[in-house]
Amino acid sequence: MNEAKRIIVTSALPYANGPLHIGHLSGAYLSADIYVRFQRMMGKDIVFICGSDENGAAITMKAIKEQTTPQAVVDNYHELFKDSFEKMGISFDHYHRTSDQLHHETAQDFFRELHKKGKFIEKTSEQYYDAKANQFLADRYIKGTCPKCSHDAAYGDQCENCGSTLSPTELINPVSTLTGEKPVLQQTSHWYLPLDQDEDWLREWITEGTVDGTTHHDPSDWKKHVIGQCKSWLDGGLQPRSMTRDLDWGVDIPKEIPGSEGKKLYVWMDAPIGYISSTIAWSKQNNKDWKDYWKNEDSQLIHFIGKDNIVFHCIIFPAILKAHGGFILPTNVPANQFMNLEGDKISTSRNWAVWVPEYLENMPGKEDELRYTMTRNMPEQKDSEFTWTGFQDAVNNELVNNLANFVNRVMVLTHKYYDGKVPSFDEDEMIVGPEGDLETAFHDSELLRLFDELSEYGDHIRAFEFRAALAKVMEISSLGNQILQFNEPWKAIKEEPEVVAVVMNLLLQYCAALSLAVRPFMPKCADNIRSMMSLPTIEESGEFVELMNMLAEGEHLVKEDHQLNKSAHLFTRITDEVIQEQVDRLNATKESTEEIKAPPVKENINFDDFTKMDFRTATVLEAKKVPKANKLLELKIDLGFEQRTVVSGIAEQYDPTEIIGKKVTIIANLAARKIRGVESQGMVLMAENSEGKLSFVSPENDWENGTIVK
Ligand code: 2FM
Ligand code: ZN
Repeated sequence: MNEAKRIIVTSALPYANGPLHIGHLSGAYLSADIYVRFQRMMGKDIVFICGSDENGAAITMKAIKEQTTPQAVVDNYHELFKDSFEKMGISFDHYHRTSDQLHHETAQDFFRELHKKGKFIEKTSEQYYDAKANQFLADRYIKGTCPKCSHDAAYGDQCENCGSTLSPTELINPVSTLTGEKPVLQQTSHWYLPLDQDEDWLREWITEGTVDGTTHHDPSDWKKHVIGQCKSWLDGGLQPRSMTRDLDWGVDIPKEIPGSEGKKLYVWMDAPIGYISSTIAWSKQNNKDWKDYWKNEDSQLIHFIGKDNIVFHCIIFPAILKAHGGFILPTNVPANQFMNLEGDKISTSRNWAVWVPEYLENMPGKEDELRYTMTRNMPEQKDSEFTWTGFQDAVNNELVNNLANFVNRVMVLTHKYYDGKVPSFDEDEMIVGPEGDLETAFHDSELLRLFDELSEYGDHIRAFEFRAALAKVMEISSLGNQILQFNEPWKAIKEEPEVVAVVMNLLLQYCAALSLAVRPFMPKCADNIRSMMSLPTIEESGEFVELMNMLAEGEHLVKEDHQLNKSAHLFTRITDEVIQEQVDRLNATKESTEEIKAPPVKENINFDDFTKMDFRTATVLEAKKVPKANKLLELKIDLGFEQRTVVSGIAEQYDPTEIIGKKVTIIANLAARKIRGVESQGMVLMAENSEGKLSFVSPENDWENGTIVK
């Protein structure tokens, strides 16, 4: 990637309809944060932008489910997100929200400009309408059978079973999730972006990295799976896409545009404009000009997203930006693939996730441990997997045994031999190098090795190869451990104190370098090393360049005689019990969601409906089979004040003789009806489990028959 004067980095705006989980973190936030923190250390003019995505059906559906307002939903999750991001050390320069007035205005201005320039085509089409709810249905509000895999709960835009992208009219037996009614097709008019007309320049931009023949970026810098997905969209042919919706929550279409009434912006037009409005909000607070970042060819725009958002960031948003004019296009979209959890896809609806707020509560102070494990496993090129035992192994074997152990040993030995002062040494003295060959290394040659390792580390981060960069950090720590191991200062201190001085001074330089190199990945750990070494906390502007310059010049990062602070352990071991607790918690979720998977709750009734029903306790006096009906028993029931005949469908599971004397509950005011020629005067309540097994609903105490149940 060419050098840019400024960089604007965005992370996908998360839908404010549920808490953050590790899948979100690994997809779009941690990667961006690592990149941004590194570029700040490089002294770059970089701004890191995000905010909550508060419009669209994802929000209104949640509000319906929780029987509250969309505003209450977004207020709740917006605060929760801010808290989770802050605690996880995701260092946004600005975290905005798309329900904010400034965002509404920015998005409307965009729409207005495109409208004015004649970029839209207006089209009338038939869309599903719920006559009972009196509204058009967003794609997500329609469920039905998938035409591709016959899954019976596919959404109007996508089947979660086979992953197909659908349109609502493709669903077999569509049903409105608002009322359960069959929706009807009704005419409505919308503004469409004719994406089919963008195919040529998009193809050139994605595959060649040029726009109208001018070089924009090097496509070999882009991830293959991102280019692959874009190509397959382009090869499939782009269709005009509607940029408006019939909704009552979201950004209004500007009033002056005829036909705007009742229309809102399509959430996928509005959300990416959220990056711009968030930057505008930031620039106002920081006395900057947002246009320097978004409208200047000297700037680079980088979108960090998960793979499900590729089409929106590589095709639709660029088309919107180009149609508007004056905006730069993304230089790179380093989308991540998905992170699975313990062998299964992360799923919000099945509650199969490690939720960030829960993690923060259950593992206080262990944010860096999660950042480390997630980066080490980042789904950069293909899907990856988070397991709790993997987390434990990574923390115990790598953070504790390698990194923390190295820093601690160097600190402890320096305190022991030199009262915590960085020792002076003789430059010509030889030590055993990290490969274990006798006396092959000098202080300056090993500092140069450190420089080379750190150069590679930086190259990896710039290329969005965060796993490899983190591996380099751990390699530096391993090298340090090996130097320690081969030179055995604890043995050599008596006979060869000159050699030990070289070793210890060198390793303190390693520790100082590590305090910078770990910073993008584990900011707290970085601060802790700095504080132990009594070095100023990094302010992130240009430190890394300075460090590299010093190493290149053979300068030392910590000077001789510099006094260190006390040493403390950077990380502690995670016990089997702690891990088991997390695994149990997760498995319990699975069990409880399996139970809930039972039949959905029926439509609400009001309290009056409920009080109309008269339930009573009763006792079975007699029972006999109903002739020619395998399932039915005819029961005589004692209600205390009278006896009744009730026909019950329990014959396949209960023998008439075994239920005589059984205490039961019946609905006593159910209108009598004839079943197989027998008049049934009520109904016995039975619980039926998922396998169809029946059980009487009996009162706990043996009270008199006819007692009211309510
Ligand atoms: O997939 C999602 O969670 C979307 N809310 C991402 C939006 S990204 C951007 F366009 F703002
Ligand atoms: Zn399907």
